[in-house]
Amino acid sequence: MINVLFVCLGNICRSPVAEALFMDMVRQKKMQHLFSADSAGTASYHIGKRADSRSIQVAKNNGITITHLARAFSVTDFDKFDLIVAMDKNNLQDINKLKPKYAAATVVLMRQFDDQFPLTDVPDPYYCEQSDFQNMYRILDSCCNQLLNELVAKSELE
Ligand code: 4NP
Repeated sequence: MINVLFVCLGNICRSPVAEALFMDMVRQKKMQHLFSADSAGTASYHIGKRADSRSIQVAKNNGITITHLARAFSVTDFDKFDLIVAMDKNNLQDINKLKPKYAAATVVLMRQFDDQFPLTDVPDPYYCEQSDFQNMYRILDSCCNQLLNELVAKSELE
């Protein structure tokens, strides 16, 4: 089983969508026995809250249901997950600050799975408009697809 954790700042806009999208793709491939996913935020402002209504809406428009309740990223996540996927460079920095020297998990940036713009961030849409949430969704859809394809290809080689 490969456990993937998607991390953003608040865990209400980007990472819950990434988690739900990734698991939807896993279910479509009937690979629930091989992959699991969760999400968390580096900040604790929104702990226990449902995802932002704009994220819920953009996911719903694409047939994806989000049930996640926000939680804070914790140092114990380095033991629980194989892959930690940060939405932007600030998230990556915050995660790496907590990273124990001998952590098992690999920490990567989401857009490293974006062939076109591999060095960019998944923009934070919190202070933006619904169209920015649509743009976020498009980016996450493409990156999750590429991420899962890479993980499947890697697991088939092993
Ligand atoms: P997220 O977006 O990191 O994609 O969940 C944000 C949510 C909340 C805040 C910032 C970003 N906030 O400042 O409360």
